Amino acid sequence: MKKIALGVCSSISIYKACEIIRLFQSEGLGVRVIMTEKATRFIQPYLFTSLTGERTIVELFDDGQRPIEHISLVDEISLLLIAPATANIIAKMASGVADDFLSTFYLAVKCPVLVAPAMNEAMYLHPQTQENIKKLKALGVNFVEPESGYLACGKQGPGRLASPRTIVDHSLRLIRSREAFRGKVVLVTAGPTREFLDPVRFLSNPSSGKMGYELAREAFQLGAEVILVSGPTYFEPPAGVHLEKVTTAEEMKQAVLKHYPRADVVLMAAAVADFRFCGNFREKLRKQDIRPVLEVEPTPDILEELGRRKERQLLVGFAAETGELREKAAEKMTRKGVDLMVANDVSGQETGFASDDNEVLLIWPDGRSRKIPRMSKRKISQEIMKEIEVLLNERRRQI
Ligand code: PMT
Repeated sequence: MKKIALGVCSSISIYKACEIIRLFQSEGLGVRVIMTEKATRFIQPYLFTSLTGERTIVELFDDGQRPIEHISLVDEISLLLIAPATANIIAKMASGVADDFLSTFYLAVKCPVLVAPAMNEAMYLHPQTQENIKKLKALGVNFVEPESGYLACGKQGPGRLASPRTIVDHSLRLIRSREAFRGKVVLVTAGPTREFLDPVRFLSNPSSGKMGYELAREAFQLGAEVILVSGPTYFEPPAGVHLEKVTTAEEMKQAVLKHYPRADVVLMAAAVADFRFCGNFREKLRKQDIRPVLEVEPTPDILEELGRRKERQLLVGFAAETGELREKAAEKMTRKGVDLMVANDVSGQETGFASDDNEVLLIWPDGRSRKIPRMSKRKISQEIMKEIEVLLNERRRQI
């Protein structure tokens, strides 16, 4: 992977560029920063030079030493990201003005270009700015929409720079997108379900949702349309995914079945509660009214239902076990009709439920298996998606 050229313009949100650089670096990507002259009024170029380990570019002509750096840098980068992008740079790009390094560089690059606007809401909504954005989109330039909220000028509305995580996720989609996932719908479930006895008491499990959220993030970066059906979690949804929040197993089942006909791949990473109480009380029960033994009944098995209804979908199940991992997971794989089973041991604290890391055993119906040693759930999700890409490509060849 080549590096990212990060164009930085004069906006109060310029400080977020530091976090953007850090996130790219955590993905193993180098960054070269290009600042507009006005951006240097907010931050000294030296800050970005220190963060990236590479000289920050401001001037088109650097003391006459590197007169055509805007051409040589073109071959070193995979993406030109401009964040924050002002109304001025957007207008210059839309009309082809090349009067500084950044605007000149934009005309020279052949890689994808992503623009993350940040400005006052009136400037952003101004018909001229909107016209410029429309024109650039028609030319193939990609945009990360600004967020709505309180702006530095005291006004409220759209114009706040999108979050660094969102910008980086969109950037990575542009450079990591894979043919196998383009035009594909990936349905992911994540988190626990809660089965309530009354408004304050429920049956559940320790799933945090992290595994499912990382799978959804990865599927988006690989170019898929992603639908994330999530039980209660504290995580922000990954950029670009369509999120449906649910609470109970029955709600999760309804949401999953609604999207199932469109799905090409389903990843059931959710820890669906296996039981619910027989009876659900609207009012909080008094302690003395609760019997010491409560009756429960099974919740619907969503994955088993998907297995029965399967047409062209690629079904990926997860098995959370505390012993005899391979045997128990293989039995579930066969019973639920899945095409790939991801088995994880949930007996420890370091992996499985509510941890940053995981360690999994992948099992295929033809008897093959692959152990993925302990690593972050981000990396585990990348390994799982690589295997899904192989399965999708195999299917494509069979058609
Ligand atoms: O969320 P994290 O904190 O990151 O933790 C990740 C995880 C441990 C929850 C995840 O990696 C995982 O293993 N998810 C599946 C947990 C589980 O419910 O396993 P199971 O063996 O009970 O179920 C097997 C499969 O059937 C799962 O795909 C499950 O989603 C599905 N199932 C289970 C019960 C049910 N009623 N309906 C289902 O669809």
